[in-house]
Amino acid sequence: MPPRTAAIVLAAGKGTRMRSARAKVLHEVLGRPMVSWIVGAALDAGFDQVVVVVGHQGEAVATALQHDFPDAPVSFATQAEQRGTGHAVQCAMDAAAGAEVVAILSGDTPALDADTLRRLGAVRDERHAPLVVTSFEAADPTGYGRIVRDAAGAVARIVEHKDATPTERAIHEVNAGLYLCDRATLADALAHLRADNAQGELYLTDVVAHVAGRGGRVAGFTLHDPFRVAGINTRAQLAAIERELLARRLDALMDAGVTLEDAASIRVEAGVVIGEDTVLGPGVQLKGRTAIGRGCRVDAGAVLVDTGVADGAHVKPYVVAEGATIGPGAAVGPFAHLRPGTVLGRDVKIGNFVETKKAVLAAGAKASHLSYLGDCEIGAGANIGAGTITCNYDGFDKHRTVIEEGVFIGSDSQLVAPVRVGANAVVGAGTTVTRDVAPGALAVSRTPQREIAGYYDRYRKPKEAAKRRAKAAAAASDEEKG
Ligand code: UD1
Ligand code: CA
Repeated sequence: MPPRTAAIVLAAGKGTRMRSARAKVLHEVLGRPMVSWIVGAALDAGFDQVVVVVGHQGEAVATALQHDFPDAPVSFATQAEQRGTGHAVQCAMDAAAGAEVVAILSGDTPALDADTLRRLGAVRDERHAPLVVTSFEAADPTGYGRIVRDAAGAVARIVEHKDATPTERAIHEVNAGLYLCDRATLADALAHLRADNAQGELYLTDVVAHVAGRGGRVAGFTLHDPFRVAGINTRAQLAAIERELLARRLDALMDAGVTLEDAASIRVEAGVVIGEDTVLGPGVQLKGRTAIGRGCRVDAGAVLVDTGVADGAHVKPYVVAEGATIGPGAAVGPFAHLRPGTVLGRDVKIGNFVETKKAVLAAGAKASHLSYLGDCEIGAGANIGAGTITCNYDGFDKHRTVIEEGVFIGSDSQLVAPVRVGANAVVGAGTTVTRDVAPGALAVSRTPQREIAGYYDRYRKPKEAAKRRAKAAAAASDEEKG
């Protein structure tokens, strides 16, 4: 049996340089909290358990992770006072007591992926090293811990930037903050940490000198793509890493058969899935748990949040949808607003300036122009005329409107809920429906039309003549003055 493994994720720090009321690790990268990316990578890599060290806004961090990984072996260790990375790991050791091998990860490196963690494990196996530290060559090493190697080229210790001599600062090989260690070796080294350094903290990095000093082999895992361990300390770094993750995500989508028009303007968050032969137009934003099927079109400027789009559907320009389901072959927009609880069946058509909320439209139903459809059920093939409004709210409660199949609602009608229009009924244009309509009936509520003959000659014509005379007089007086 392979050794039981734990990943410890350090996420207790405040992240002062973010200048934020929110803990750094909760800031989102492509719609997902930073720390969720790390925990997700550790779980994908097959760690038996993940222990997250929380402190600053610890409850909010734990809540976010429980939401993202409800059934996963993720637990929390509290570091009440942030006394350094070594102290943070000390706080997690009890929770990781069952593990023989422990990885240590930072909560602020959202680009970390399972592949990098697997390669870290492979280095440990090949080199039979009780401790593996990850490094990379930094063009600008400022702020990082430097990797100090002995004459034979083996990793001897790590010196933090603030503690480094000028010669050590000239080293460009830096500590990525990603380690893999035998639990027993780690526990022993942690017990020897001291805060006798520039920051008065317990540095996890001092574990390296302790292990090497006792003849333990410290293997270096050198990354050629340091992007995977890039840490976020500022909002500018967050933007840069997000941009790079997005670019790689879009490349992967294109490889998987999705067409992107003006790819640089498109944003697809982490939790989104898209099927083959779907086309995304410029400026499209797909967020949350949006899932798009095959052969769909999502046109320019559409913003979809937690929305399902079935195969062959067409989302036209500037549609905004949240918590909606769009059926196969359906067409929505341009400029439609689908709010939570909207469920559109097969081939439904929603046109411009239509707003829906908790509206369930069965196959082939149409609302082509200028409508508000809220708290309603609309049957198959029903046609909702321009300007139709479901009056669902009386100022206190919401009420339902049921429009059965085959109904034709004429333009500019209001349905004062609760109300039901029976199958195949017709509601005449301009009607205010206040009572249920029987199946197959015609409901009309209009003031009868009156006609007054000769209105133009008697009223408008003399008025027009007077207006013309007044204008001519004013022009003549201007000329006299001029
Ligand atoms: C750390 C390393 C440095 C390395 C760099 C890589 C140490 C002493 N230094 O420095 O060698 O080059 O990462 O990015 O380890 N945290 C806690 N509790 C604490 C302190 C920190 O949970 O008491 C967490 C932070 O929330 C963060 C992570 O540990 O997620 C790293 O801490 P940070 O302060 O960013 O360390 P660096 O100064 O970047
Ligand atoms: Ca850092």
